[in-house]
Amino acid sequence: MVFPILMIPGPTNLSDQVLRVMSDPMLGHTSPQFYEDYKEAQMLSAKLFGSEEDKTVLFSGSGTFGIEAGISTFLKDGDKVLSLVNGYFGDRFAKIAEIYGIKVKTVSFPDGMAADPDTLKRELQMEKYDAVSMTHIDTSTGVMNDIISLGNIAKEYGAYVFVDLVSSLGGSKFRFDDGPFDYAYSASQKCIAAPPGASLIAISDDLLKRSHDFKPKSYYFNLKMWLDVMKDPKIYLTTPTIPVIRALKVALKELFEEGLEARIRRHEEMGKLAWDFAISMGWKPVSNKPSSTVIAIDLALPISAAVKDYMLNKKNILIATGIGPNAGNIIRVGYMGNTSKQLLLNTLKGIEEAVIAVKSSKQLH
Ligand SMILES: Cc1ncc(COP(=O)(O)O)c(C=O)c1O
Repeated sequence: MVFPILMIPGPTNLSDQVLRVMSDPMLGHTSPQFYEDYKEAQMLSAKLFGSEEDKTVLFSGSGTFGIEAGISTFLKDGDKVLSLVNGYFGDRFAKIAEIYGIKVKTVSFPDGMAADPDTLKRELQMEKYDAVSMTHIDTSTGVMNDIISLGNIAKEYGAYVFVDLVSSLGGSKFRFDDGPFDYAYSASQKCIAAPPGASLIAISDDLLKRSHDFKPKSYYFNLKMWLDVMKDPKIYLTTPTIPVIRALKVALKELFEEGLEARIRRHEEMGKLAWDFAISMGWKPVSNKPSSTVIAIDLALPISAAVKDYMLNKKNILIATGIGPNAGNIIRVGYMGNTSKQLLLNTLKGIEEAVIAVKSSKQLH
């Protein structure tokens, strides 16, 4: 079997050390060895959030678990949420909240625009909301929001701030404790370069206090119980994804060996490289600004599936096609985790070749 190089916006390519730890013999979930690994992974995940261990949860699940856990633990029936949408993943928060009986108003920012602070202000002046949800980088469009400005406005109007960092944590500047945030969630398989299966969450003291008055609506997603497990991972609640948590620990150690600032800088530089390359080719990025982890490009012709196939068959590189409106015209390239500038450049040059080949085979111009 041939394994392609992943240039999709997650999951991402794993280092040899991370791969190796996943083939270790299985450990017991309450064993002292695993306890040490879990504690270290949790300590490093709190450091990555720019927060403290007693405010963060690391448990087995994907990014969506972070969404559902936050909603089911910290929001209650009849709460009102204003959901800022810049693509498919902003909308996911709104859809899950509705399942839990939350009243959601979505405000969409189409055409690759980031969420506009003045629009948010106007919405909050017109109606009182319990929470505002936003995505740092929406993986479907590559749109990156200024979550500090948006969060500050939401706080001014007394709303809790829920932020999706699935496609940004470890690849973009963020500090939970210094910012206007109450709930942030991310996942292992993107900028951290660990396998999928671990969900990383940070919770503010204010949000935790608010939840004392009501019961979470789920067992599995009950973050209050998970906070107890974090204090002592020997407590059995559910069996963790042991190899994933151990691999995450190794990936986080590698991340901090590179240095968080250096890693973010590398991501930002790749964002600029991808953006400049796309513009120089006359391609249209979906977003109106670069992001540090993913670019979505509108090729203006319904050729994204053929370009993806060409990349896979001729270059052994996997890129993604679009999600949402115009999906058939859109390709997406992720440059997250261990990706180097050289690999990104090779990918972009490969796409240039693929576009020419596909257009000429279909006689399109
Ligand atoms: C921004 C964003 N939020 C949420 C999710 C959902 O994460 P998962 O697929 O790990 O459940 C994704 C997945 O790609 C994402 O990119």
